[in-house]
Amino acid sequence: MNTLTLVLAGAALSTGLAFPSDPASDEDGHGSAALPPTPTHVRAPHDVVLEVTEDTWLKAPGEDWFEAQAEAQPGRFEYVEELVEIDGDYEAGWRDNEGEFEYRYDPEEDELAYWQFVSAEQLTRGRRDYVQFCASCHGFDGAGYGRSAQHLRPPPRNFTKPAFKFSKVASSQLPSDEALVRLVKRGLDGTPMLPWALSDEQLGDIVQYVKSLSPPGRGWRDIYAEVGQIVESGDDPWAGRKAEALERGEEVYHGTARCHSCHPGYVTPARFTEITGGEVREDFTYPLAKATDKYDVDGHPVLLLPPDFTWHDIRSGTTPLDLFETIASGIGGTAMPQWKGSLPDEDIWAMAHYVHDLIENYKDKPVERSRFMSGLRRGN
Ligand code: HEC
Ligand code: HEC
Repeated sequence: MNTLTLVLAGAALSTGLAFPSDPASDEDGHGSAALPPTPTHVRAPHDVVLEVTEDTWLKAPGEDWFEAQAEAQPGRFEYVEELVEIDGDYEAGWRDNEGEFEYRYDPEEDELAYWQFVSAEQLTRGRRDYVQFCASCHGFDGAGYGRSAQHLRPPPRNFTKPAFKFSKVASSQLPSDEALVRLVKRGLDGTPMLPWALSDEQLGDIVQYVKSLSPPGRGWRDIYAEVGQIVESGDDPWAGRKAEALERGEEVYHGTARCHSCHPGYVTPARFTEITGGEVREDFTYPLAKATDKYDVDGHPVLLLPPDFTWHDIRSGTTPLDLFETIASGIGGTAMPQWKGSLPDEDIWAMAHYVHDLIENYKDKPVERSRFMSGLRRGN
């Protein structure tokens, strides 16, 4: 070390200079030794609360989930015939011996519901990791207004609302813990929501914390809410029959399901008339933006176009299985409906193959895409 560096190091020590990236010193613009030290776990502004002091109860999945758990963990869950009175009927329910889950009857709401216990310690662990990893976008209070959120389109999710779009759980239900963990692990392609390589314990804690941001009567604090699992896909019924799947997928997409009423269509006028049994194809090379495609963010409508599969990024995966799950579950809070139940699984699988094939053949392949799309326009 030469004299010059020694002098510089001495100067930095004596004036208490902090690094510009230290948020504790950013706070008042010039850093000073008078500020409390940055908390060891996270580099959050010094006034951000990192402790959660109260235990809480959050809405748990229902009867079916308990039955499955009871089978998987013999002895832990018991069926209690406690006979809680509801309008003269008598009900019983599941409870676990570790006090983490139970059912409760709320006479005020006249409703029997299952609840999951979450301790203040777990919430504090989740809060600390949340502040460190998620708050820059989702906000310290979870409302989606983090420091980096301003220019993000689509915006980061507001967890105090709460609504979820890509959890692969039926769009009318809240996602299960497993669905949320899976989503955060895999991230959303083409968005700033990246895959998170955190441990399962950390993710488990963060997810409980995110759920606990539900305000009274909403989300996981809503006694009527349903917590659902990732949609069941079953085995791919088209395995080994790709050409048939694609033909059927094309038919269902433009026929029964009319996906082209929002997304673009991908067949010629002649093929369209054949599929629909006589309808004349209108120009559907690009869908018109519709009022229904606006995703409401705290009263600010954000226009989210139904993607063109040959052009846009698909956020929640492009394998046939990913696409089956997306199409089957729908996208909460948007115009994209849930198809499971209204179409046979076989047809949803066929469309998953069809959409997958469009992506494989034309996305990021400008020459092939342009030839394909202009072919549709010319109608040959
Ligand atoms: C760099 C910004 C950024 C960070 C950091 C970030 N997210 Fe996100 N997150 C987003 C954006 C943007 C979206 C919305 C994407 C969309 O709608 O396409 C999102 C969406 C989500 C969703 C909603 C998915 C759905 O189904 O609707 C969850 C859950 C989520 N983030 C959890 C987390 C967690 C947990 C962390 C921390 C481990 C985190 N995010 C960190 C930007 C971020
Ligand atoms: C009423 C309009 C509407 C209909 C009908 C519709 N969608 Fe969508 N779809 C949307 C919108 C809007 C989005 C974008 C949502 C977003 O980005 O938040 C979307 C998104 C998607 C995505 C991408 C999800 C992702 O991970 O990014 C797929 C795949 C998809 N739709 C497939 C289909 C298929 C297949 C059909 C027909 C069975 C269909 N959609 C019918 C409106 C619709």
